[in-house]
Amino acid sequence: MQSDKIQIFDTTLRDGEQVPGCKLDTQQKLVIAERLDFLGVDVIEAGFPVSSPGDFTSVQEIAKLVKNAAVCGLTRAIKKDIEIAADALKFANKPRIHTGIGTSDSHIQYKFNASKKEVIRRAKEAVLYAKNFVDDVEFYAEDAGRTDNAFLAKVCEEVIKSGATVLNIPDTTGYCLPEEYGTKIKYLKDNVKGIENVIISCHCHNDLGLATANSIAGAVNGARQIECTVNGIGERAGNTALEEVVMILKQHPYLNLQTDINTKLLYDTSMMVRERMGMPVQPNKAIVGANAFAHSSGIHQDGVIKNRETYEIINPADVGVIESAIVLTARSGRAALAYRAKKIGYELTKIQLDTAYKTFLQFADRQKEVIDEDIHQIMKQVNKISKI
Ligand code: KIV
Ligand code: ZN
Repeated sequence: MQSDKIQIFDTTLRDGEQVPGCKLDTQQKLVIAERLDFLGVDVIEAGFPVSSPGDFTSVQEIAKLVKNAAVCGLTRAIKKDIEIAADALKFANKPRIHTGIGTSDSHIQYKFNASKKEVIRRAKEAVLYAKNFVDDVEFYAEDAGRTDNAFLAKVCEEVIKSGATVLNIPDTTGYCLPEEYGTKIKYLKDNVKGIENVIISCHCHNDLGLATANSIAGAVNGARQIECTVNGIGERAGNTALEEVVMILKQHPYLNLQTDINTKLLYDTSMMVRERMGMPVQPNKAIVGANAFAHSSGIHQDGVIKNRETYEIINPADVGVIESAIVLTARSGRAALAYRAKKIGYELTKIQLDTAYKTFLQFADRQKEVIDEDIHQIMKQVNKISKI
């Protein structure tokens, strides 16, 4: 019987940190790693230790600091990379080496100019070598999304024989459609000998905006680890967003797939990552964007004021947002004005509200948003009118 727990493998500090313009020093990485551990992620990919002395030190310090999550270091299928990663991880409670090689025709031909047989040989050798240092070895088949399924299955079978504990099936270029990616995972489950003894992992990029959908399709088809980043930051269009997959699984309990993430920390973690990394989040970003719980049209505002569930599928408190926002614009109706006015201390009669609403519309047509300060002004005018 397969476990229904989805492990969250966070790669904010590795794939996320590869974003142009975003450079964190070790101290900043430690603060984020500690938060990720507190958030409840299962694995923290702390960096690519061979890439620079700075990255080595960061991985080493994170390995010393993190108490609960496994700490992982990335390598190519190269002995030196693996030795250096093992050294950086030697103080970790739960060290994991993440090694692998490209398996698509394009990677085999253009990156390695090698044969498929040679790629399998290097993959097996890397896993076997990593097993000398740690028990937990994750293998990635880079560009698995564009790799022929039969060859991918062969690679997976061979690395399982060499001792891989986790099989990462990256859609490196964000090419797959959800059904295609889900079918790939199912194909591996049905065709790879020994697969029941390892965890299949989804690692999806967002080039077509499908990273989250693909990861969920992978999990529904038997993957039990999702690789993701806070706010979906990462190479090019980014990676699967941690907050999205976690909330999708929470909001769809019939899938029977759970994570250990403390969702109430999601918003705060998102803020921490955007500030430390200098990477703003678009206002309409799902779950953590500034408008994710803001209602601005009259019809929606009226519904939400009567009952939040009319237009909200997530309770904002569940992700650490204090409350939904009713944003007053020229599209807002009387209900929204009365609601905001009450929040700042004005209980309006029907006649007062009618009068106030006319003035409100003048304000709203002049400016994009009517804020509390404007409502005070509007109320002064209402009082004058009612005194007359
Ligand atoms: O996208 C990718 O294929 C990767 C691997 C190195 C795991 O980031
Ligand atoms: Zn990646």
